[in-house]
Amino acid sequence: MKGFSRVVCDECSELLETAKKELLNGLARTTGYEFALTTELREDDAVVLGTLSSLQIQCVLSGLSADHLGEEGYAIYRVVKEGRQRIVLTANTAKGCLYAVFHFLRLLQTGEGVASISLMEAPKNKLRMINHWDNMDGSIERGYAGRSIFYRDNKFFADLTRVKDYARLLASVGINAVTLNNVNVHEVETYLITDQFLPDVARVAAVFRKYGIQTFLSVNFASPIEAGGLPTADPDDPVVKQWWETSVERIYRFIPDFGGFLVKADSEFRPGPFTYGRDHADGANMLAEALIPHGGIVIWRCFVYNCTQDWRDRSTDRARAAFDHFTPFDGRCHDNVILQIKNGPMDFQVREPVSPLFGGLMQTNQVLELQITQEYTGQQRHLCYLVPQWKQVLDFDLHSTEQGCTVAKVVSGELHHRPLGGVAAVANIGDDMNWTGHLLAQANLYGYGRLAWNPELSAQSITDEWVALTFGRNYDVLRIVSNMLLGSWQIYENYTAPLGVGWMVNPGDHYGPNVDGYEYSKWGTYHFADCKGIGVDRTVQTGTGYTGQYHSPHSELFESLETCPEELLLFFHHVPYTHRLRSGETVIQYIYDTHFRGVEQAMSLIDKWKELENKLDDSQFEHVLERLHEQASHAKQWRDVINTYFYRKSGIADERGRVIFS
Ligand code: GCU
Repeated sequence: MKGFSRVVCDECSELLETAKKELLNGLARTTGYEFALTTELREDDAVVLGTLSSLQIQCVLSGLSADHLGEEGYAIYRVVKEGRQRIVLTANTAKGCLYAVFHFLRLLQTGEGVASISLMEAPKNKLRMINHWDNMDGSIERGYAGRSIFYRDNKFFADLTRVKDYARLLASVGINAVTLNNVNVHEVETYLITDQFLPDVARVAAVFRKYGIQTFLSVNFASPIEAGGLPTADPDDPVVKQWWETSVERIYRFIPDFGGFLVKADSEFRPGPFTYGRDHADGANMLAEALIPHGGIVIWRCFVYNCTQDWRDRSTDRARAAFDHFTPFDGRCHDNVILQIKNGPMDFQVREPVSPLFGGLMQTNQVLELQITQEYTGQQRHLCYLVPQWKQVLDFDLHSTEQGCTVAKVVSGELHHRPLGGVAAVANIGDDMNWTGHLLAQANLYGYGRLAWNPELSAQSITDEWVALTFGRNYDVLRIVSNMLLGSWQIYENYTAPLGVGWMVNPGDHYGPNVDGYEYSKWGTYHFADCKGIGVDRTVQTGTGYTGQYHSPHSELFESLETCPEELLLFFHHVPYTHRLRSGETVIQYIYDTHFRGVEQAMSLIDKWKELENKLDDSQFEHVLERLHEQASHAKQWRDVINTYFYRKSGIADERGRVIFS
C-alpha cells in the first residue's frame, strides 16, 4: 500500500458506514498508519469505496458490467489513471461493498499483494446461516466455549459489545443470517416472539443489521397454546392461523427486516403438526403464509425420526427417517419454505454417508445443516478440523439427474432452479475470551463461513488463509498448523469410531467412549456388536433398505460388500470381525491398528506443536499445548476402552501382540 494514504467514499448508509469504519481500521492495523477519509478524489493514490452508482466510483471505473454481482457480490480493481493509482472496492449494494472491504483486508493480511488486483466475486449460496443453540438462562446446548453472548438469567445482556464483535467476525467471512435461540424452544424462549422480548430481539437485530446479517428466531410450534392461550396449535385451524399472522405482524413492527423462523417440530419431543393429524408441509406452509406478506421465510428442519424406538425392533432405521418423511412432500411447500437437512442422516457423527434426502427432493428449497460445534468430535477439547469433512459432503455427486449433481449445487438452488437455498450450521462460540474454547477450533468457524460463500474453495486454501490471518505469515507456522488441522479429522476418527460405526459415546454429554452407551436405548443408534461381528445391515437385500434411498450407482455401490467404501463399511453392513478389508487386514485387526495409530498420531500433534515454541504468542502456545495433552491422554482412554471391548467380544488377539487390557 505504498503511496496510499486516503480512502474516498461519497456515499452514506448504515452498511457503508460500517464498511468505511472497517476499511479505515483494517488499513491502519495492516499498514501501521492512519488513512484519511474524504468524499472526493484528489491528486493522490487512493482506495475508492462505493456502489456502482457512486460518482467517485464512476470517475475511476465506468462501464463495469455488474449483472452477475447480484445483491452481495463485489469487484476489486486496481486502476492506474494519469499516474495515479486507485484501488476500487465496488458492488451493486452497500452490503457488497462491505464484503469487498473484508476481502481486500484479507488479501492485505495474508500478504497476497494487491499490485495487480482484479477480481469479481459473488456468493454461491443465498443463505449463509449460523444457528445458535443458546438458551436464555445463558446455557448453550452442545456449547463448549463458555456461556451465551446474548443472554443470562433469562434476560438479554444490556451491553451488546460482544455481539457487535461477533457480528464483525461473521460478516468478515460472509455470514448473512443468524438464529438467536436453541431449536429446542423451551418455556421462556417461547416468548421471544411476544412484546416481552421483542424490544430486546430488535436491539440485537440492530447490531447484526449493521453487518448485513439478518436475524431469525427458532419458534415453538405450540406457541399458540403456550404463549397465546389457545386450546390448539392445529395448523389448519383459522384461529391458529390468525394468531400466527398477528404475531408475525408484531415482529415486523419491531424488526422490519426480520428473516423468519427456524422450526424443529415433531422431533425429539418437540410439538408439531403430527399431534393434529397434519403433516410437515401443512405446518411449514401455515407459518410461511403468515410470513409471505413481510418477505420472511420458514426454515423447517428435517431431523424427524422415531426417538422412542425399541432396540429389539430391527426394522426401524433412523438413517432412513428424513428421506421417508420428507420426500412425499416434494413440491408441496411454498416458495418461502426451505427444508433444512441435517448431515449426516443420523446426527453429526465423525463419519456418516451423505444424506440421501438431498437427492430425493427436486421441487423444494433445501439447506444443508452442519454442526460447527464439535458435539461428537471432541467438544473443542480435541483438535478436529471439520472443513475436509464438509468438503466431502458438498462435493458428493448425488447422481440425481445426471453426473455433477453435487450437494453444493442442490442446496445453492442452482441444480433445480430453486429461489432459495444455502447452508446453516450450529455455532461453536460462547463467551470464552478466544470465542471457541480451543483456539484452533476457530478454524472451523472461519472455514464454515468461507465454504458457505464458495463451496468450491479447497480445504487447503481455506486452512492456509486461516493460519496466515491468525498467526501471521511465518512459513514454519503455516506448514505445521495447516498440516495439524488438515490431518486432525482422520486422527480423531482413528482413535474413536472406525469404519462408519458411530455412537460409541457416553449418553447425554456425548463425550468419551462408551461402546454400549446407546446400544439398548430408545434413540435408534445401534452398532449391533456381538461375539461374531459388528455393523448395521442397511442393505435392500437383507437389511433396512436404506441403500435404496440413493440414486444409482451409489445404491449398488453401498449395497455390495465388495464395492462399499470401506470408511463406511459398518454403517451399511454387518460383518464378521474376520471379514477382510481390501488391504487384506481383518476388521478386528483394523480396529486395533487404527486405535493404536490414532493415539500415536494424537501424541505426535504435541511434538508438532512444540516445534512452534517461541514462534507464537506464549499464552496461545501454552493454551493449545494443554489441550493437545488432554487430547492425547483422552485418546488413550478411547483406544483402551474400544480395543478391550472388542477383544472381549471377539476373543481375537491383536496380531502384533500390543497391550490390550482384558
Ligand atoms: C442432537 C443433539 C441435540 C439436538 C439435536 C437437534 O441430537 O444431541 O442436543 O437438540 O441434535 O439437532 O435438534
